Amino acid sequence: MKAAYITECGSIKNIQYGDVDNPICRDDEIIVKTICVSVNNVDTFIRSGKYKTPIPFPFIIGRDMVGVVHEIGKATKGFKIGDIVWTNSMGYDGRQGVTSEFVSVNQDRLYHLPKGVDPISAVASLHSSATAAILLAEIGKVRIGEKILIQGAAGHVGRKLVSLAKQMGLSITTTSNPDDFEILHKLGADNTIDYKETFPSENQREVFDLIVDTSGKANLQNNITALNIGGRILMITPAPIDTIDTWPLYTKMGQILGFVISHASIEQLKIAAEIINDQFKKGLLLDDDVYTLDFKHASQAHELQEKQAKKKPKYVLVF
Ligand SMILES: NC(=O)c1ccc[n+]([C@@H]2O[C@H](COP(=O)([O-])OP(=O)(O)OC[C@H]3O[C@@H](n4cnc5c(N)ncnc54)[C@H](OP(=O)(O)O)[C@@H]3O)[C@@H](O)[C@H]2O)c1
Repeated sequence: MKAAYITECGSIKNIQYGDVDNPICRDDEIIVKTICVSVNNVDTFIRSGKYKTPIPFPFIIGRDMVGVVHEIGKATKGFKIGDIVWTNSMGYDGRQGVTSEFVSVNQDRLYHLPKGVDPISAVASLHSSATAAILLAEIGKVRIGEKILIQGAAGHVGRKLVSLAKQMGLSITTTSNPDDFEILHKLGADNTIDYKETFPSENQREVFDLIVDTSGKANLQNNITALNIGGRILMITPAPIDTIDTWPLYTKMGQILGFVISHASIEQLKIAAEIINDQFKKGLLLDDDVYTLDFKHASQAHELQEKQAKKKPKYVLVF
């Protein structure tokens, strides 16, 4: 079968497109014929070796896919040939990736795509939506009525956070470019702040129960100042600061909780899948700007993903 793969980690030039062996269907696995695969930062980190995780070589790149069930392992339940399904946890921790004609996925990592949902819009959304869902439901353990600050809210993860936080009954403040205020209000933001404004202002001290910075540019010390007693800073990307004064964090009983979806458990991924599918059925979380490329152009998709650019679309590879 055709696949985009690497024989060692490194630059984009390492990505090859060609023939590899078809996957074997073990008893608890399902062979899926791929429809589309998204390209996210994490895929470039794994390809380059920046994010260390065991992978088999030749390694087929890619983590998130939507496809059609092609063959069913003897010990699987709930799937039949022809079902449209998705996974978002292949291509790390020893598992092959998904940028290939066929993929063998353990049944625990495979979910049905709700009827009528466009596979391309869905695959574009999966990584940021699952991150947002696990972050709020499992890491932040949010409670109705809590006040959340979402920085970089107009980005891919940020918009999913706003949309889900709204569904979960939080009071939402966002930072973004003012051009994005309208869309953020539509998604559920109660207050919008220009990310160029000095933060926190006098009346933004000790306000927020939860703070998530998706941009990696917000000052962590300032965020600690804005944190309420017992508040949690949820960290999905490193903050630009070497040393912090931990006194205010300690006296407010605050927490900084790091999270990478690569360490999410099967149970957490399943919880996220239920949340995502529920939102997909309502037509939510499907608003990413998508740019599609042929599977053959996986290396170009990685190149585009690695470029520093404002308002990058989600790159999706299609067969
Ligand atoms: N830990 C995990 O499991 C996990 C999972 C998924 C993603 N991530 C990481 O999360 C980060 C966000 O991903 P993404 O796909 O959402 O990126 P994105 O779409 O590029 O969003 C980043 C947002 O930050 C905004 N921004 C830029 N400068 C800012 C500032 N000074 N203050 C506040 N906001 C600012 C950008 O606005 P403009 O467009 O106006 O500049 C943009 O809307 C990435 O680092 C990604 O690697 C981590």
